[in-house]
Amino acid sequence: MTKAHFGMIGLGTMGRNFLLNIAEHGISGVGYDLDAAKRQLLLDEGKGMPLDVGSDLGDFLAKLESPRNIMLLVPAGPIVDKVIADLVPHLDEDDLIIDGGNSHFTDTDRRIAELDAKGIGFMGIGVSGGEEGARHGASIMPGGKREHYDRIEATLQAVAAKVDGEPCVAYMGSGSAGHFVKMVHNGIEYAMMQLISEVYDHLRQVVEMPAGEIADVFAKWDRGELDSFLIEITATVLRKKDRGTGRHLVDEILDTAGQKGTGKWTSQAAMDLGIPVPTIDSAVSMRQISSQNKLRGQIAARFDVDLTHHHSSLDLDDIEHALTAAFVISYAQGLSLLAAASAEFDYNLDLAKIARIWRGGCIIRSKMLTDIAAAFSSNSGHETLLLDAVLARKVEHGAIGIRKMVSSAVGHGVPAMCFASVLSYFDAFRSQRLPANLIQAQRDYFGAHTYQRIDKEGTFHTDDWEA
Ligand code: 6PG
Repeated sequence: MTKAHFGMIGLGTMGRNFLLNIAEHGISGVGYDLDAAKRQLLLDEGKGMPLDVGSDLGDFLAKLESPRNIMLLVPAGPIVDKVIADLVPHLDEDDLIIDGGNSHFTDTDRRIAELDAKGIGFMGIGVSGGEEGARHGASIMPGGKREHYDRIEATLQAVAAKVDGEPCVAYMGSGSAGHFVKMVHNGIEYAMMQLISEVYDHLRQVVEMPAGEIADVFAKWDRGELDSFLIEITATVLRKKDRGTGRHLVDEILDTAGQKGTGKWTSQAAMDLGIPVPTIDSAVSMRQISSQNKLRGQIAARFDVDLTHHHSSLDLDDIEHALTAAFVISYAQGLSLLAAASAEFDYNLDLAKIARIWRGGCIIRSKMLTDIAAAFSSNSGHETLLLDAVLARKVEHGAIGIRKMVSSAVGHGVPAMCFASVLSYFDAFRSQRLPANLIQAQRDYFGAHTYQRIDKEGTFHTDDWEA
């Protein structure tokens, strides 16, 4: 039998579907998983496709053509290192390991260096789109050596989602560029999901709309400027009825959001690079608050009095425009972070290309990414998307809506941390003068940290603040 072109270790939902997608495109694949049932499932689902499995690691490796391309879709963290350690003694020079999980970018840099010393290639690639994307077209963000990317480009192009015939995959850059871009993708995903959930909360608590009607609102918005995967699935999940109770399933779900860490990593990296991403930070904080439900119960009981003040005239058009502007600002924060990371880590990222491959297959895909890609392609040299004419107009259009939304949320006591952060981010960046002059004065007072003046050049210290 001829040897397989592409190997996959980890035949869980993502690995199995990604390999089925590859094989469906006529590219031969071989899979391996410690769990025999998962190996069998791949064979069952891949009947008639150029697919095989390895009965053990040795058999798997023997079934791969040389030099080998071996993708790992296993949980990020120590398991990736364990699989690499198991593989390495059996690999040959020029074999390539491709980590398709959500690994931390610093782990990816470490693995690249460790394996490079042994003559083995390593790439970190971001794969977005969940089960559906893995099976029928994902957005793929590969990073590592260019020659390694060239080796697997045709395979990745085959399995990527297509927008207007263009595959949603492109070489991101060297080292951990692919995993960094995927991490920021997830940070933006956190922000968009939290913004959507704040709108849902507002419509539920303030407007007192039942879930089914809220679904209709999101479905309508999905046909307009907010056309995006997350708005679309929001309408779908809000409509779903619970078989047992007959009520809307969403109303039966515990309000505690899980997280695997990619949103938090985005905030951490942004802190390290000095790039403000407050909407992503707020989304992470809200997931953390959501998970402290016992404490929330105690605090809610302690403050069980009416502390609200209702005074807003907010309509659905305001909310639609507010959400559109908030999405633009979330993308702007993430992409500013990518620009800084590109400079710091020499990734040489092409932000227009990233926006283009995010248009299909991934969780944050949306119609407005076409405008975002155009903003970067125009070479206007703007430091932020907020200065692009088209996107600035969207923000302008939604600014009053955000203000109304936040004041309504504040008045009604409905949390809107992400909307508030969007507004403060926007207001702060459009302020000619911020009150940081006072902070400088305080720092100089207690620590002689010095300050600069607006009326003359130089560095100043005042040693008699109390005089
Ligand atoms: C994607 C998703 C995917 C996954 C996240 C969820 O792009 O397909 O981002 O990677 O859904 O890991 O992350 P949390 O568990 O942290 O929400």
